[in-house]
Amino acid sequence: MPSQDQASVQQIRAEVAAQVRAVPTLPAMCQRILMAINDPNTNFDKLAREASYDPGLTANVLRIANSAYFGAAQEIGSLRDAFVRIGARRLFELTVGTSVGPLMREALPGYALRRHELLRHSAWTAVASERLAAELRLRAPDMLFTAGLLHDIGKIILDPFVEAHRATLEAAADRLHANFEAAERDVLGMDHAQAGAAVLRQWRLPPQLVEAVAYHHDPEHAPAEHLLATNIVHVANTLAGASGVGSGIAEMRHSVSAQALAALHVKTAVVERVAAATLETMEELEQLLG
Ligand SMILES: [Fe+2]
Repeated sequence: MPSQDQASVQQIRAEVAAQVRAVPTLPAMCQRILMAINDPNTNFDKLAREASYDPGLTANVLRIANSAYFGAAQEIGSLRDAFVRIGARRLFELTVGTSVGPLMREALPGYALRRHELLRHSAWTAVASERLAAELRLRAPDMLFTAGLLHDIGKIILDPFVEAHRATLEAAADRLHANFEAAERDVLGMDHAQAGAAVLRQWRLPPQLVEAVAYHHDPEHAPAEHLLATNIVHVANTLAGASGVGSGIAEMRHSVSAQALAALHVKTAVVERVAAATLETMEELEQLLG
């Protein structure tokens, strides 16, 4: 790197890695529900009782469970109800969403994202991912909503570094004739997709979430078993940008993967329907998550 000596690059990379390790854990309830998903003998009454010790979390989860987007036909009044009516998997997604949503409200000056912009972009991508799967008549991969919601979470960690080294990053992108992620890897030692995946790994979230986040800009290299979710999140993320719900400077160099589009057989009419349907539900969801 011409503008900085190797020592300072090592220093920056070490600071970035330390920042990833310092991210606080998710509420314990997220792990509990995750375990319940994989255990057919789960005692839901016990789980609901444990969740009631965190009344703020419970209230938020119920609020979202009753929203127009997630809502069941009848009002869901308790976590026990939610387990039965929307299932442990959906409940896990709502719990993660309410826990992480508020983190995504803040402005990220490094990425030129104003307050609420990351949350809006993330919620848009989450909804569009599910709509896209439905429009394409695909069986939605597990936890697709959450993969869409968390895809750019690494930006929260990298933002102070991007802000401090913006000129170096832009020079690196020009020098490498590459996108912003390549510059992030060159200067910061990891890109925001890798940083996000590292956090999700620390949170012990399932591999389908980790991999879809890790490869959301590079679906061509995603592991085969998580390719479908990664392709969908990649296309939904692109669509968010094209619909004016972008995610700042990094995405201006984003290009859509022809391979992902071809694999999903995405047609223009489908894209238009997904964009319109997503827009309809956005406002309510964004408020609920934020
Ligand atoms: Fe991204």
